[in-house]
Amino acid sequence: MNNNILLYGGDLIGQGADGCIHKPPIFSCNIKKYMNKKYISKLQFYNSYSKNEINASKIINSKYSYKQYKNYFSVLVKYCVLNFSQLNVLFSYNNNKDCFFYTDFYENYNHFDSNYNSDKLFAISIYKYVTGYSLKDFFDINKTILLYKNNIFDYFKHSINIFFYLQKSTFIINNNLNYVHNDLHYNNIIINTNNNNLPVIIDFGRSFKYIKNDITFYNKFIQYFSKFDFKPERIWDSFHIRFIYYIFKDKSLQKYYNTKNILDTKNILDIENILDTENFLDTKIIDDFINMIIQYDFDYYQYICKFKFDFVYIKNMYKQFLKEFFYIFSDKNKFPYINDVIYHIYNNSYHYSIDSYSVIFSFLDFFLSNYNNFSKENQLFSFVQFFIKYLFVNINPNVNTKFLYKHHYKFFKHVYKFFKDHENLDLLKYEIFYRNIVIYFKDLNINTHFFINNDIFKLLYDNRNFVVLLFDK
Ligand SMILES: Nc1ncnc2c1ncn2[C@@H]1O[C@H](COP(=O)(O)OP(=O)(O)OP(=O)(O)O)[C@@H](O)[C@H]1O
Ligand SMILES: [Mg+2]
Repeated sequence: MNNNILLYGGDLIGQGADGCIHKPPIFSCNIKKYMNKKYISKLQFYNSYSKNEINASKIINSKYSYKQYKNYFSVLVKYCVLNFSQLNVLFSYNNNKDCFFYTDFYENYNHFDSNYNSDKLFAISIYKYVTGYSLKDFFDINKTILLYKNNIFDYFKHSINIFFYLQKSTFIINNNLNYVHNDLHYNNIIINTNNNNLPVIIDFGRSFKYIKNDITFYNKFIQYFSKFDFKPERIWDSFHIRFIYYIFKDKSLQKYYNTKNILDTKNILDIENILDTENFLDTKIIDDFINMIIQYDFDYYQYICKFKFDFVYIKNMYKQFLKEFFYIFSDKNKFPYINDVIYHIYNNSYHYSIDSYSVIFSFLDFFLSNYNNFSKENQLFSFVQFFIKYLFVNINPNVNTKFLYKHHYKFFKHVYKFFKDHENLDLLKYEIFYRNIVIYFKDLNINTHFFINNDIFKLLYDNRNFVVLLFDK
């Protein structure tokens, strides 16, 4: 083992809640090939997070070649498990003491004595290093704008590119792989400077396999909820997740729970008891949830845009589509038990809603946080205002009222082509455009209601010259 330790240790390039990332790897599972700067290692406990990464990597590798997936996902190329004494040897050669495994675990390992003797205590995973920077850094206009030679239009255009690209990546995960990434915040997305600054998705630690109507996978999904506390302020979690947490964890609802078989030692049994409870959801309880969500979300949105964007209409729409989505669960005939509610959400909307919500939320965060910066260019600003509304319309949890995945791109492509076909755009009548778009929606079976109420079609029409300019490039 000693022969394969990189004696000077890798630099600690990342440290998350679950692991330490070193470049080059601190250990490469006895294979020299990976001990260079093209690779990184992630050291973490051998627990459900590392196992999820292993499983996701296996699935991706079984369906796609490295060449096919490398520009979308970073998955592990090798992993091994270590016991405590092996890790001890490893760190006695490593000069870098920043990793929290030193401070939290290594120095206080007595606190972990229940399982530190295990042979499978740690996992080391090797990944190909993705050259670049996080999507979070990309979103920091002050840092990134220099890369676009201070050209805000080019920067904006590229952000839209990234948005469309991530739609494709999430489609592959959700639809082609039957997986949910489940943690798609902007730190888990790297802008790959070796591939036209397009995003690569990392960190499959919270991912899980999704199979519709499959009780085994449904049970695994349920267990996931027993591990975490409900935090309504986790505004980056989809409405679905927050609703399930609300049912499982909110104190105000505990009086309804079935307490027949409560064994208070194991939380998971509590959740099974809740699932066995007769459906207690009524419109008042659902309204409480919706009001809580709206309060948290719009406090945040207002704060990041420094109270510059007018949310009055958006807020009402939010209320309306959340009611449309969640009120059905107050029907006790259709959903006699809490389990029927959760199972319905799991089977009908869970898999497509989690990752797509994260992407939309990240971009709303980006455009609203930079609202002021974009306001300096008139034409661009008008389109940004439109795009924020577009994202809000598409955050709707009801699937037939929004675009998902590639449909975002297809829609803009359609609109662009329509405008391109008109030689004199200034003379184009709105009614003609409107009629065309309504037919487009009808063919896709998508309800136009919130698009029309938010002036999406009108704003696109008003921005027609900009749309052409944006997509011409
Ligand atoms: N393949 C990679 N190429 C380049 N950098 C990477 C790669 N994988 C991870 N990183 C860097 O290390 C950081 C932590 O990685 P990762 O998200 O996998 O760990 P984590 O412990 O799950 O973190 P968190 O708990 O914050 O989500 C990332 O944000 C990124 O900066
Ligand atoms: Mg991460």
